Amino acid sequence: MASSLLILILILVIISLALLIGQRERKRRRLPPSPPRIPILGNLLWLTKPFSQLEPTLHHLRAKYGSIFTLYVGSRPVIFIMDGKQVHRSLIENSEAFADRPLPLSRSDLNGNLHSINNTPYGPLWRLLRRNLISEVIHLSKAGESSSSIQCMAFEILLKSLKAEAEANSGIVVPVHSIQHSFSFFMSSLCFGEIMEQKVVDQIMNVQLELIQIVEKLFALNLLPKVTLLLYCTRLGKLKQLRRAHQELLLPIIKACKQRVKDTDVISYVDSLFKLKVPADNEGNMRELSEEEIMSFISEFLDASIRPASATLEWIMARLVKHQDIQNKLRKEIRSVVGEKRRQVNKDELQRMPYLKAVILEALRRHPPAHFLIPHGVKENVMMDEYLIPKGTVVNYLVASLGLDETVWEDPLVFRPERFMVGGEGEERGKRDNIKTMMPFGAGRRMCPGMDIAMLQLEYLVANLVNEMELKTVPGMEVDLSEKAELVVAMKNPLHARIISTA
Ligand code: HEM
Repeated sequence: MASSLLILILILVIISLALLIGQRERKRRRLPPSPPRIPILGNLLWLTKPFSQLEPTLHHLRAKYGSIFTLYVGSRPVIFIMDGKQVHRSLIENSEAFADRPLPLSRSDLNGNLHSINNTPYGPLWRLLRRNLISEVIHLSKAGESSSSIQCMAFEILLKSLKAEAEANSGIVVPVHSIQHSFSFFMSSLCFGEIMEQKVVDQIMNVQLELIQIVEKLFALNLLPKVTLLLYCTRLGKLKQLRRAHQELLLPIIKACKQRVKDTDVISYVDSLFKLKVPADNEGNMRELSEEEIMSFISEFLDASIRPASATLEWIMARLVKHQDIQNKLRKEIRSVVGEKRRQVNKDELQRMPYLKAVILEALRRHPPAHFLIPHGVKENVMMDEYLIPKGTVVNYLVASLGLDETVWEDPLVFRPERFMVGGEGEERGKRDNIKTMMPFGAGRRMCPGMDIAMLQLEYLVANLVNEMELKTVPGMEVDLSEKAELVVAMKNPLHARIISTA
């Protein structure tokens, strides 16, 4: 009797212990906190708020739930990570686990552009595509050498366009379109390997812009495809129409590039794609890319580069107009390198202009054109402090808030390039992995492959502009730094400036 009582007590103790351990383990392996959600629909706030409200909503949730929290899109958890140390732990320390991309929820027309580096799952094919882009096209040793002439022409396009506008408008310019023309010319010339006619560049730019705008408006489709598909069928019609126009414009250019005998020394993305062989099956056979696939990769190349780079240059110019002291200091640095004689600044001279780099980094800190990263997919379970980030979850980051972290940046709202000079709190930023502080180009394995060429072209254009002209405010018109909350965050009210030649 006594022994069976003992056995019973023992069993009860073991069961309680097991329950306790299970409870602890469950607690230990829980997802980051989430606001209450409705089954199937997830967190309704996703549907009720426009895209422009997403960021303030996330800040509100951060204040309530901490710097890492979960939102449900339907039944799919999306985890937001907003603290610099946790960003580092995920994207750098666990870079491989966080290097995937989630599959889009909607297989609708919205996701037609599936042949892109950013949509390719982490693995050998992604590596092959990314290596091709970097080593064949935009690596500085290649692009830097062979693209010098298009770099110089891109500046001349910008300058000519600004001067023509100023002449017609009593010295006043709204630079946004001139900037877009310049970057469209630069990127499409790198893309197709020949000096592109301005008319064709404009056509490509317009269709690409219209396409992106409509995809942004259809953003909700990716959140709840079945419900929103009914609401958005007219926009989907427009999207199909634009895709056709896009195809009619790009396919003939691609075909012509394939047939031409190349007589320029300009490298090109399209030529690298013609040569590229990708796996045809699992048996090790290889194949060439189809024309549709090439069109899709080219579309990504232009979309991913022109808009963020143009937005960044407009922000930099706005800051230079607003802060005349910074503009004068920058001009002084430029003149100390090139001398007083008026001529174009060349690429090698840029290396001797630390203040120029600091101005650009400060603009990227205060006005990163991408406030979010492209969503990352998690390849395996990862523990972040007490929370589980399960395999298959979608993770995203709030880029802009890192640059405003008061524990890292002194007076974070103040525009002060000196913080990126020797002794400043941003000096270490030059080192790529130091992303606890800011990451306008993302970080880790999916970091923007175009960062170096974008920085080089920004430095080149800014140095030459400031060398060539003074940028002043328009009397009675303050520079308005409000943001237009879209996937690429540009100025809400385009910059107006007065330009005066320094000749
Ligand atoms: C100021 C200019 C630019 C900014 C601020 C910028 C920013 C970014 C950001 C934030 C990402 C997402 C990174 C992530 O998800 O972790 C990205 C990805 C990407 N960017 Fe850029 N970018 C710029 C210019 C360019 C240029 C010039 C190119 C091409 C020549 C380019 C091509 C790409 C591609 C292909 C990806 C996807 C990478 C992948 O998934 O592996 N970007 N960029």
